[in-house]
Amino acid sequence: MTRRLTLITLALSALAFGAGSAQAQSDTVKIGVILPMTGQSASTGKQIDAAIKLWVAQNGSKAGGKKVEVILKDDAGVADTTRRLAQELVVNDKVVALAGFGLTPLALATAPIATQSKTPLVVMAAATSMITEASPYIVRTSFTLPQAAVSIAEWAAKNKVKKVVTLVADYGPGNDAEKYFADRFVLNGGTVAEKLRTPLRSPDFAPVLQKVRDAAPDALFVFLPSGQGAQFMKQFGERGLAKAGIKLIATGDVTDDDQLNDMGDVALGVVNSHHYSAAHPSPANKKYVEAFEAANKFRPNFMSVGGYDGMRVIYNALNTTKGAGGDALLAAMKGQIFESPRGPVLIDAQTRDIVQDIYIRKVERVNGQLYNIEFDVQKGVKDPGKLK
Ligand code: DHB
Repeated sequence: MTRRLTLITLALSALAFGAGSAQAQSDTVKIGVILPMTGQSASTGKQIDAAIKLWVAQNGSKAGGKKVEVILKDDAGVADTTRRLAQELVVNDKVVALAGFGLTPLALATAPIATQSKTPLVVMAAATSMITEASPYIVRTSFTLPQAAVSIAEWAAKNKVKKVVTLVADYGPGNDAEKYFADRFVLNGGTVAEKLRTPLRSPDFAPVLQKVRDAAPDALFVFLPSGQGAQFMKQFGERGLAKAGIKLIATGDVTDDDQLNDMGDVALGVVNSHHYSAAHPSPANKKYVEAFEAANKFRPNFMSVGGYDGMRVIYNALNTTKGAGGDALLAAMKGQIFESPRGPVLIDAQTRDIVQDIYIRKVERVNGQLYNIEFDVQKGVKDPGKLK
């Protein structure tokens, strides 16, 4: 292991040494995108890949006066593969930026490569608060679980929810969701009766849903990663929790636009919080959804906007540096302000994390289709995980 790391370090320092001249001579800049295109998180890869292609189709394959080449690699959601692919992209392809990262462990496994090779790494999906602290070269265009969880905790406490059970996927973003939901809910006078967790891989919700029924809370708060919402919702419906008077509240990862329309009536009325809804009523989003659906025949979800905005951040930065990479490219990513399909966003120059509006939404049927309809908003939310 140590020997392997030493070899990686040697290869990367050799690269850093020669990088300046190699890149200066080339009129092409490469962006290395690593996504789970297969496996349990394949919908994340599908959504972000589609959004990147839409960005390039709309904005051309030139930035900073150079031709932009996007190289897509499939890590199947396996961290060792992500790290190996990132190393190859940096050493062999000499990419100016790494991007993608569908799950927290995949971003964390790659962080040392970004640091050692001074390559900006744009996290388009993963959402555990501390990811941006794993390398000074990480910039995030997705969201954080504390951003989403605090807002729904505030809403619940103000809306007659007194006793809650929490249920989260048992890894980084689930830990964040559980902690930030519970802390804010308890601060506002609520009680968390039980904290339940399911494994990230192949979860079975039946046993935990039985525990929820037995605990008989006013509401169940849920975070599960994108792709697991539909199966959860089905079992929630089958076990009759709603009929037993247990309200479902969640982060918007559960009422995911990628699956929402197929969830059926059980999803109706679920109140949740997130940074993006395909039904967000802005002209910029209407344009985005129309173009995305025309190109793909499926609805864009929150993962897609992380990919679309990540491309914007990279293009804007390349325009500033005239195609140069490394520290100059990183500096040009910091402090960017623009209107995303989700609403106004800022890349915080200090934390390199995204500052954005968080919406409270309710699942409703509109023209025969299920959507997250926004009814309240908290403006300009910084990651609460950075305010410690
Ligand atoms: C993460 C993955 C998801 O699919 C999601 O919806 C939120 C967070 C993650 O692994 O960080």
